[in-house]
Amino acid sequence: MKVLNFGSLNIDYTYQVDHFVRAGETMSSESLQVFSGGKGLNQSIALSKAGADVWHAGAVGAGDGDFLIEQMKKAGVHTELIEHLDGQTGHAIIQKDPAGQNCILLYGGANQRITREMVDRVLTQFEADDFLILQNEISEIGYIMEKAHEKGMKIVLNPSPMNAKILSYPLEYVDYFLLNEVEASDICGIEATKDPQALMNGLVKQFPEAKIVLTLGGDGSVYRDGDTVLRQGIYKVPVVDTTAAGDTFTGYFIGGLQLGEDPKTALEHAAKAAAIAVSRPGAAPSVPNREEVETFEG
Ligand code: RIB
Repeated sequence: MKVLNFGSLNIDYTYQVDHFVRAGETMSSESLQVFSGGKGLNQSIALSKAGADVWHAGAVGAGDGDFLIEQMKKAGVHTELIEHLDGQTGHAIIQKDPAGQNCILLYGGANQRITREMVDRVLTQFEADDFLILQNEISEIGYIMEKAHEKGMKIVLNPSPMNAKILSYPLEYVDYFLLNEVEASDICGIEATKDPQALMNGLVKQFPEAKIVLTLGGDGSVYRDGDTVLRQGIYKVPVVDTTAAGDTFTGYFIGGLQLGEDPKTALEHAAKAAAIAVSRPGAAPSVPNREEVETFEG
């Protein structure tokens, strides 16, 4: 069983700031660091470090994105399905404040130039029961879902970043949702301020066949599959940089399932991996390897 992650690759420009820049304000940053990132790339690296055999499909620009591919190769990700397209690689401008929180501005670049022809080419390499992981940072996601469903692939959707396009995708084909309260609220139309139980019930009503992981920030996460409900708390660590914590969680959860872990163990490892990631700077470089996760005491 193979794992295909069809997702974004970004160059992350991370600016250390005293506070997030306000409307009309011009502000100097304290430092700039350049990291490999993109929700797709981060999740592929996390999947691979978790032990999954993962193929990443996506696109970078003609001349500026090769270091992203190198980083993925180094982490053990199969990169031969990543194409070079004219124009720029996607990038993210990330402001990081002293508490390690961030705000992110995206430029899609090559991520938004994925074509149906590319999708068709990639999917010839996969078959029924292979996993397909998707986020919401590339073009043609609805088409990818249609074609993967026709093949009988298992579809995992992390609907992030949330926008109106998500609601136009064939969400009924999704086998696993990994999402936060805001994303859940936008999908099922229930206020995020309500009890998370109401959000989970709304999702289950709308997608009765799907397995759902709802992340609740400091309150951890809840997994639901039919009558099975599992809860997982967070591991508290000194926060350095929260970028890619969610991607690390997703990669370790799905990677764990692919290795044969039960959902409870996969959730626990995902929470530990995310905690380690927030204690380190950067996106992809903050993703821990499996040994670090399994020996993490919390
Ligand atoms: O989830 C974190 C990621 O979001 C960053 O690496 C950035 O590139 C954006 O895609």
